[in-house]
Amino acid sequence: MSQLRHFLDIDQFDGAALRGMLDSAKARKDARAGGPKGVPDEDLPLAGKVLAMVFIQPSTRTRVSFDIGMRQLGGQTIVLNADDLQLDRGETMADTGRVLSRYVDAIMLRTKGHEMLEELVAHATVPVINGLTDASHPCQLMADVMTLEEHRGDLKKQIVAWSGDGNNVATSWIHGAAQFGYEMRLACPEPLSPSTSAVHWARENGANIIVTESAEEAVSGADCIVSDAWVSMHDDDEAAGNRHNMLAPYQVNAQLMSHAKDDAVFMHCLPVHRGEEVTAEIIDGPRSLAWDEAENRLHAQKGILTWCLG
Ligand code: CP
Ligand code: NVA
Repeated sequence: MSQLRHFLDIDQFDGAALRGMLDSAKARKDARAGGPKGVPDEDLPLAGKVLAMVFIQPSTRTRVSFDIGMRQLGGQTIVLNADDLQLDRGETMADTGRVLSRYVDAIMLRTKGHEMLEELVAHATVPVINGLTDASHPCQLMADVMTLEEHRGDLKKQIVAWSGDGNNVATSWIHGAAQFGYEMRLACPEPLSPSTSAVHWARENGANIIVTESAEEAVSGADCIVSDAWVSMHDDDEAAGNRHNMLAPYQVNAQLMSHAKDDAVFMHCLPVHRGEEVTAEIIDGPRSLAWDEAENRLHAQKGILTWCLG
């Protein structure tokens, strides 16, 4: 078995390793105390290391947070968009992985099909990081739990309610319930229900997971409400109209939030579609943690990168 420290999915770790990454992220965030973003961390733990980032799908947060995170750790990055690579002309992901491994110390991949990530992992000889696939978004989850803990304390005391599409981000929240101990409730229309294998794995590993079609039921008494785009990057645009109809009752608005705890917070990985999965009043309101969540992508990536490459 490979000894490489890949960061592929939240369900592939023991909780202590994930906790270590979060603690390291928090310590580095505190040590910088809002200082200049371009100044590296004093210990330069990744000096001499290079991260390649391969983007088969677009990104703002993942791209910039990994790039700046790597620089703050003393390392370097190279950004490779699919259409700049021979991948676009049919070179396989396997060969791309073999070759990139000769130049760089780690590879982050954002892609559509999770099988592309698996193909890369099978052939790369350096650590691989999942920067989002159609199946999961584990780096996002690390920033999300870091943010939730900063605002509300002990994760084991939190009730998290997801309202909307049971998508890739939902899967990582489900995995996180087993690893970090929060209760997870998911309200999704039946055709867009969350991954049954993720729910099964999380329950087997002690998580309290509730799956319902009622947004009101999921949100009732919750500490944190989460939503995400109704149409993800990997979704077929032609089905988008139907998805909008199915998902309309799952919009997070003031009325739905009124069923949660009085001090409940709202989270969203961004990019957001105001007036679809959440109203502007909520995402731009005082209970929204979306901007802290986005900032914490940077800090969380540094915890992940030092674990993979340290
Ligand atoms: N949340 C997130 O992954 O954002 P990007 O698609 O901009 O990377
Ligand atoms: N579920 C969304 C998340 C974007 C960060 C997507 O996959 O497009």
